[in-house]
Amino acid sequence: MKNKPNPFQEWLRFHQARVERALERWLPTADTHPAHLHEAMRYAVLGGGKRIRPALVYAAGAALDTPASTLDASACAVELIHAYSLVHDDLPAMDDDDLRRGKPTCHRAYGEATALLVGDALQSLAFHALAHDPALRVSAEARLRMVETLATASGSRGMAGGQAIDLAAKGRTLNLAELEDMHIHKTGALIRAGVLLGAYSSPAVDEALLAKLDHYAKCIGLAFQIRDDILDVEGETGTLGKTRGADAARAKPTYPAILGLEPAKARARELFAETMDALASLDERADPLRWIASYTVERNH
Ligand code: IPE
Ligand code: IPE
Ligand code: MG
Ligand code: MG
Ligand code: MG
Repeated sequence: MKNKPNPFQEWLRFHQARVERALERWLPTADTHPAHLHEAMRYAVLGGGKRIRPALVYAAGAALDTPASTLDASACAVELIHAYSLVHDDLPAMDDDDLRRGKPTCHRAYGEATALLVGDALQSLAFHALAHDPALRVSAEARLRMVETLATASGSRGMAGGQAIDLAAKGRTLNLAELEDMHIHKTGALIRAGVLLGAYSSPAVDEALLAKLDHYAKCIGLAFQIRDDILDVEGETGTLGKTRGADAARAKPTYPAILGLEPAKARARELFAETMDALASLDERADPLRWIASYTVERNH
């Protein structure tokens, strides 16, 4: 008997393909001068990754009936920042990893200096897309709010700040509050930005709805990094596309290391339940947000 098609898998595949095409359009071609940099940027962004942050942009937009064409720039912007963060995260000065998305890390393939520039250039491209895209049909004020949201989520009070906390924590014992603070910054901030950018794309969003979506976003952001930590212990390198056990090898403070595996899973389940509560008053247009939440805590890569 054939398996029933899973609506989430179909929905995700459709939106992964959509953002892939949009990213392809924003990235300069590999023969554009300076070709080595552009080739490396394309290597770091295209043809890999789960595209969960773009999926969240599309899902939050769908909950508010926003057309996908208005969401593409935000989906690309958040993924470009994420891809840049991965390139820098893998550098020898940070996590020193050799494998990313099933292939050699950017600095392994193109050298460290180029990997630094890839990160810089992807970050600029993210803001270019958000500031420029004519298909993003929102007021200038809303666009500015979106730029500011992404900037805050990426910077020292968001992802980059979280990475600084991560580096400072290496080899130390963190308590649970410190660990969650690190996760909320390094991973939660950008995931939250994805949901907020999707929401801000719609003039229909009011403060009450925004608060619910924001609560959902905060819970899923933390749950996402908890699952990432769990997969470093339980995953398979081949499926993960990155080296299993890398955290333990570098004495990284992670959820399983500090709490143990079962309590880490229990915390992820608790956060999942909280995402469902946050969306309780929303109709079936919010189902993609629900699917992504359940995928976040169950995924195997
Ligand atoms: C990995 O993110 C890094 C974290 C912030 C946990 P993803 O698990 O979303 O990586 P890709 O984009 O699918 O490769
Ligand atoms: C990465 O966290 C967070 C950012 C890239 C901002 P990790 O270091 O745990 O991500 P992986 O496991 O290398 O993907
Ligand atoms: Mg790291
Ligand atoms: Mg890492
Ligand atoms: Mg990790």
